[in-house]
Amino acid sequence: MEERIVSGETQHEEEWQELSLRPQRLSQYIGQKTVKDNLKVFIEAAKMREECLDHVLLYGPPGLGKTTLASIIANEMGVNLRTTSGPAIERPGDLAAILTSLEPGDVLFIDEIHRLNRSVEEVLYPAMEDFCLDIVIGKGPSARSVRLDLPPFTLVGATTRAGMLSAPLRDRFGVMSRLEFYTHPELSEIVTRTADVMDVIIDMRASGEIARRSRGTPRIANRLLRRVRDFAQVRADGEVTKEITDEALELLQVDQEGLDHIDHKLLKGMIEKFKGGPVGLDTIAATIGEEAHTIEDVYEPYLLQIGFLQRTPRGRMVTHRVYDHFDLEVPGT
Ligand SMILES: Nc1ncnc2c1ncn2[C@@H]1O[C@H](COP(=O)(O)OP(=O)(O)O)[C@@H](O)[C@H]1O
Ligand SMILES: [Mg+2]
Repeated sequence: MEERIVSGETQHEEEWQELSLRPQRLSQYIGQKTVKDNLKVFIEAAKMREECLDHVLLYGPPGLGKTTLASIIANEMGVNLRTTSGPAIERPGDLAAILTSLEPGDVLFIDEIHRLNRSVEEVLYPAMEDFCLDIVIGKGPSARSVRLDLPPFTLVGATTRAGMLSAPLRDRFGVMSRLEFYTHPELSEIVTRTADVMDVIIDMRASGEIARRSRGTPRIANRLLRRVRDFAQVRADGEVTKEITDEALELLQVDQEGLDHIDHKLLKGMIEKFKGGPVGLDTIAATIGEEAHTIEDVYEPYLLQIGFLQRTPRGRMVTHRVYDHFDLEVPGT
């Protein structure tokens, strides 16, 4: 798959750069007020009772701050963070090994938790509910099951698709928080903060412009800032101004709404080939050569959010805003 500059997913070499940009405390975490307010109360209460925090499920599109929030939760609780992911835990034994090595109160972060396989999930149920592990010793008729106590811990799960979680797993989370796309002022604040960490001088109009084109996503905002900064260093004196930003983003082919050529291909394809829809997800996927689930999880949420796409029972439709955006005449007017 081609790497898109406006993709919410982590790209090549970005992981270590992101580490230094991650806010460490809840107070430095910008936006997501409802999620933060809730967590603040739960964390405070758990600390007062000297218990561990209830299991937390974080869901929402990539790049909105789920991993960041998991490490903030561990920091605020003053405990260790253990990080793993659904696909990395292949067998029940792998999960058992992780669980038995936890210290009391630890946060276990499982990213992409919807990708856990069923046999692993079954180990997780008693672990989450009663902090114990059921293991089978021996084989055949002499096999017996033994319960092993685990240290109490907090599971933080992250997923882009809460709907793909099995009901029994979902039910075992005490806290479910949905992360929303960020507003322009919030993203602008994030860009300013990142510029500060990176020792880059940026003016307010430039951070505002980057914010507007970041698809409501901090990861994209930080990525655009890095690219614009490079541009400013090569083409000017390194200071990120509005003019430099416009020029760089034009060159990077990120338009006013944060759309790139793939969005253009998708939206224009829907207009030209299907009269704007409704058209099925699989058909769209085939037209632009992407997988249906990638479109659904990664690209479409933002297009829905800004009112460019609409979901109907018969498929996706473009709205009149798309025609406006491309300066096309709305059919039937
Ligand atoms: N609320 C926030 N405030 C400041 N920076 C944020 C915030 N949320 C995310 N970020 C930045 O965006 C990047 C991506 O966040 P991450 O937690 O990895 O997203 P996710 O796990 O949801 O894909 C991080 O490097 C972090 O610096
Ligand atoms: Mg993540």
